[in-house]
Amino acid sequence: MTLVMENGWPRTAAWTGGELRIGGIGVRELAAEFGTPAYVLDEEEFQGRCAEWREALPDGEVHYGGKAFLCPEVVRWLEAAGLCLDVCTGGELAVALAGGMDPARVVFHGNNKSVAELRRAVTWGVGCVVVDSFTEIERLAALADEAGIRQRMMIRVTPGVEAHTHEFIATGGDDSKFGFSLGAGLAAEAVRRVLATTSLELTGLHSHIGSQITDLGGFTLAARRMADFLLACELEHGVTIPKLDLGGGLGIVYRPGDPVPPRPAEVVAALREAVPAQVRLAVEPGRSIAGPTAVALYEVGTVKEIPGVNTYVSVDGGMSDNPRPAMYGAAYTALLASRSSDAPPREVTVVGKHCESGDVLVRDLPLPADVRPGDLLAIPASGAYQRSMASNYNHVTRPPVVAVRDGVARAIVRRETEEDLLRLYLR
Ligand code: LLP
Repeated sequence: MTLVMENGWPRTAAWTGGELRIGGIGVRELAAEFGTPAYVLDEEEFQGRCAEWREALPDGEVHYGGKAFLCPEVVRWLEAAGLCLDVCTGGELAVALAGGMDPARVVFHGNNKSVAELRRAVTWGVGCVVVDSFTEIERLAALADEAGIRQRMMIRVTPGVEAHTHEFIATGGDDSKFGFSLGAGLAAEAVRRVLATTSLELTGLHSHIGSQITDLGGFTLAARRMADFLLACELEHGVTIPKLDLGGGLGIVYRPGDPVPPRPAEVVAALREAVPAQVRLAVEPGRSIAGPTAVALYEVGTVKEIPGVNTYVSVDGGMSDNPRPAMYGAAYTALLASRSSDAPPREVTVVGKHCESGDVLVRDLPLPADVRPGDLLAIPASGAYQRSMASNYNHVTRPPVVAVRDGVARAIVRRETEEDLLRLYLR
């Protein structure tokens, strides 16, 4: 397999000296210094992707979807690249502030923010709160009143376009826990109620139709519906609603042969065409920034051949550091990364170390037949929704994130220790 970005590898990944190198450092050295499993993050790739989105939308706003992967160092990269940040919990907000993010550049999402979370957002000066229910409109208006401010906010609209992996379908039903349904008239009612308050400033309308989308059809359809709705609201109420935030959702390549998604510039061009020129555009890419930046590195512990049935290659992580195959049936690839081999390929199943048969990382993977304990396997496209969704199942400690650049490696998230876990138990 050639290591090209179209196959999900970060831009500095290269095969030299009989091993995989990222950011100029070989995986054997990385494993020796930081241990395995580990997420190895190509800093140039992350910053390059931020810049690509920023350049695609020079007159609009790019809000990074922090749920994909967030830590204070990432916050500093976002600030340097001129991006804003989308958070959806008090915890993500706390990380944003710990990283030095200007609260005015934070957008606060979530379908059930607590009163305490909303109060924190209002008092910390969060730039925008995206309201998701009638209850929340009342809560936020009261909190802003209490603080004596006019809170800038958007309304989350469910435009009846539901995105599924690699496709989209238009839904009439609007059956979603998120936002106010456009079709059922709830979005129009939300606009009326917000405009009737004195403590809320409606700066825009928001929609997000789904994730891992690789064609433009769903984005364009949602953009048109949202633009029509925005213009209808302006006409009805005689106000200007300056902004449309059309969410995230652009997909990435996980395996060779996956559909190659459009570039940010193509997405923005399609959105721009659907939205009147006077409306400011915002987007919220998460996966399409973080996903291709990291490679998950594992060490093989055992190889179990069941003649005529299957070969199981067990690695030292699994569903705790990557729940996506078990949760979504997500398909990945992996590479024998620590040495070259002339052995013919044979199909194996790469599994983790957890006490579950569903703890599978990669199915039907051709690996050199001599793969053995001590070998390192690398899984690309591991930068989004892996460390951020990692768990401590089976009391496994969560892996570090190691940033690499120009031959220098440093942990930006350290490995969790058993002491970290034991600290929670009252003895
Ligand atoms: N904005 C909003 C309001 C969102 O809910 C999301 C993702 C994003 C932006 C960023 O979307 P992205 O560009 O990353 O697709 N855990 C799942 C993905 C869940 C996405 C949740 N919302 C996975 O691993 O595939």
